[in-house]
Amino acid sequence: MKNEATLVIIKPDGLKKSLTGNILSRLSETKLKIIGARVVKVDEELARKHYSHLQDKPFFPELVKYITGQLHGENRVMALVYWGREAISKVRQIAGATNPEEADPVSVRGAYGRILTSGLYENVIHASSSPDEAEREIKLWFEPDEIVYDLYRTEEKESGGIRKRAWK
Ligand code: TYD
Repeated sequence: MKNEATLVIIKPDGLKKSLTGNILSRLSETKLKIIGARVVKVDEELARKHYSHLQDKPFFPELVKYITGQLHGENRVMALVYWGREAISKVRQIAGATNPEEADPVSVRGAYGRILTSGLYENVIHASSSPDEAEREIKLWFEPDEIVYDLYRTEEKESGGIRKRAWK
């Protein structure tokens, strides 16, 4: 069993329904460590990059509207990095299946998700699906200095006379 990192996003519906505390409690059952946390205003560019693997799907435009908060009048999401043994599968288990109708009823998506009339799965939470995806996503949502552990390789960059660490 290996330590790994995973990205969790509490989506706009989760914040709108005041589920943040509940979801963090559920995730604390895993005994994983939170090593990064941010409240993020998601713009179109971040949304498109995050879901780039789905850009050819018919529901992609609706998915971008969802994560950027346009469906809920709520443009905040909470992004978290969890770290520990089997972090990816432990968090995916608590999140539940992608389709909330098929998700275990006690999982976050099973308990609080729904399918919109457009067909989009409004499923409250995102959880990385593999170590490669976790790395890609964490690098997209966090700067190296916003995470407590040194997860991936970095390099020093200078901008406006200030030296800063960036992902390599
Ligand atoms: P995906 O990355 O396939 O699933 P997961 O979030 O479980 O890793 O899909 C990303 C999001 O796209 C998913 O959380 C909800 C939405 N989605 C739909 O609305 N309809 C679908 O048929 C699929 C596959 C995803």
